[in-house]
Amino acid sequence: MDHYAVFGNPISQSKSPWIHGEFAKQTQQTLEYVSQLVELDEFEVQVRAFFAAGGAGLNITAPFKEQAWALAENLSDIAKLTGAVNTLYLDNDGKLCGDNTDGRGLLRDLKNNHGATLNNKSILLLGAGGAIKGIMPALIAQNPASITIANRSVDKAQKIAQIYADKTPIAVFAYAQLPKQAYDLVINGTSAGLKGGLPPVPAETVSAHTLCYDMIYGQGETMFQQWARQQGAKKALDGLGMLVEQAAESFKIWRQCEPDTGAVIAQLRQILAQSKP
Ligand code: ATR
Repeated sequence: MDHYAVFGNPISQSKSPWIHGEFAKQTQQTLEYVSQLVELDEFEVQVRAFFAAGGAGLNITAPFKEQAWALAENLSDIAKLTGAVNTLYLDNDGKLCGDNTDGRGLLRDLKNNHGATLNNKSILLLGAGGAIKGIMPALIAQNPASITIANRSVDKAQKIAQIYADKTPIAVFAYAQLPKQAYDLVINGTSAGLKGGLPPVPAETVSAHTLCYDMIYGQGETMFQQWARQQGAKKALDGLGMLVEQAAESFKIWRQCEPDTGAVIAQLRQILAQSKP
């Protein structure tokens, strides 16, 4: 039986074992996928031990995605740019390979599950941490009309813009300096919502044609979803679909097959709604 795991700290909240368990059932494959709490100074040792013991693949979550990137001998083109890795596996020569499926997961959710297109659209990104860094290559590859990043610390957003300066111009603003115009797509990649907060984004950035997407999810609507709905956004989505879709992309790398994500998203939504707050 092939063994998989997700490494993180904390990890008890992770839905990945359940999601991959569902994918395995659906595609009639026998595998084991567990979550593993890794001490902050033990990441490298644990990764090496996992693969030395015959492990087939790892997902990596906070706070280890950058360390996983540094550890991988072979990085996908996307992972090279994002500076973070969420999927590890060995190639035929036993080399540790790293990929980042977060951006592809977001695109799959937007396009396949919500019928959104990004080509020629104006995109506003809120935040400049790991969450936003992880989705940049996927967004740029869709040829949007424009990409704007707003962040409290403008220098962090500027650093991201510099990475992609040869591919596309990216406008960078502090929240209060954002042009008072509506965008086609507004993505919240800040961690403000995890503490029940909202980034201070001007209401004018959202209109009736705006799709708002929160990269986090919760039991009910996130703060950002509620805010977006109050501003009259066309759609206000959370990141549950992205979570399942990025998992499907990892599953595809490891197992060379595509699970049916729609059924898993619907079921996970139900489980969340029924869980205790
Ligand atoms: P992650 O890897 O989850 O993106 P991170 O790298 O710590 O985590 O980044 C968190 C992001 O959320 C940052 O963009 C942070 O803004 P700063 O870079 O200015 O600190 C943003 N953030 C966190 N709390 C916020 C809040 N209350 N309002 C606005 N932005 C917030």
